Amino acid sequence: MTATLSAWRIGRYGAPEVLRPVTRPLPAPGPAEILIRIRASAVTRADGMMRAGTPLFARPFLGLRRPRQNLSGTGLSGEVIAVGEKVTRFTVGDAVFGEAGLRFGANASHICLDAGGVLLKKLEALSHEEAAVMCDGPLTSYHFLHKIAQLQFGQHILILGGSGSLGSAAVQIAAAAGAHVTATCSTRNVNFVAGLGAGRVIDYTKEDFTALPDRYDVIYDTVGVSSFKMARARLTETGRYICPVLTLPLFGAMLKSRMTGGRRARFAAAGLQSHELLRTHLKCLLAMVEAGTLSPVLSRVYPLADLIEAHRHMETGHKRGNVVVV
Ligand SMILES: NC(=O)c1ccc[n+]([C@@H]2O[C@H](COP(=O)([O-])OP(=O)(O)OC[C@H]3O[C@@H](n4cnc5c(N)ncnc54)[C@H](OP(=O)(O)O)[C@@H]3O)[C@@H](O)[C@H]2O)c1
Repeated sequence: MTATLSAWRIGRYGAPEVLRPVTRPLPAPGPAEILIRIRASAVTRADGMMRAGTPLFARPFLGLRRPRQNLSGTGLSGEVIAVGEKVTRFTVGDAVFGEAGLRFGANASHICLDAGGVLLKKLEALSHEEAAVMCDGPLTSYHFLHKIAQLQFGQHILILGGSGSLGSAAVQIAAAAGAHVTATCSTRNVNFVAGLGAGRVIDYTKEDFTALPDRYDVIYDTVGVSSFKMARARLTETGRYICPVLTLPLFGAMLKSRMTGGRRARFAAAGLQSHELLRTHLKCLLAMVEAGTLSPVLSRVYPLADLIEAHRHMETGHKRGNVVVV
């Protein structure tokens, strides 16, 4: 009998229901690849965008009429069960985590990946569920705070959406860097976000940060609920507005603020950075886990068979931390 893997296919763009379970022959790793038995994989907003084919301006990149790579999922954690003859970084039995990147297919039982990709050995201190989400909120927010905003000790940062995947990681990363952290969320998440390290929490259902007098060196809008125009007056003279959600107004603000200097707007696609840089960031995040300053937040864990349900929850816009399938 041929060994098979189970995965989830996105045959066409659309709602979570377009996801279809599929089985495929278990691949043998190529010379530079490793075969991983996946224990947990992330269900992220980026996965939802890939499935829905949004925003439309991303379609030339994702696939015009249907997804170019039609398997679902990027972040994963599991065990190496076979290695190609040229692989030296990993051996059979290693617990590893990372991301499938543009190959997708992490919401599956197994996956073959390039051993030189964004993969590292997992720490015992992290469960597979926690490790599977490290490449979403933690890695993205680390890149935005340290590389894009160059957040410094003692600076003041406002994090919009402190309770989501990117936000819950950002609050912890900024607090660990010695910044003064203010974060926004709704009433039910206020205590949770304060517990992550925010010195001050603004309940956005009661207060509007633009109407408050405080100014920040960095405003990190993790969920794209503001704009550079709205936030500008709340930045210091050289403050940076950073946002991981690309829109035309943000694109325009980036171009304009680059020419005028002073306050700047910035976007980046963290996942498109070099594998080497992302592995370096991940190592810093692992050091934070070991030091007890970072703990990935999991809100819901679903069986892999319930991926459609997991996508529905992920897309509410109100998940706390991260969603995984196991
Ligand atoms: N550029 C990149 O490299 C990159 C990488 C990864 C992700 N992303 C993007 O980053 C975005 C955020 O992803 P995510 O997974 O962190 O989102 P998420 O987890 O779905 O965000 C949900 C959180 O946002 C909070 N929220 C909702 N409305 C809010 C508001 N008006 N003000 C403040 N908080 C609000 C919710 O808190 P309450 O329930 O309390 O309202 C909830 O906890 C997505 O658009 C994703 O595509 C970009």
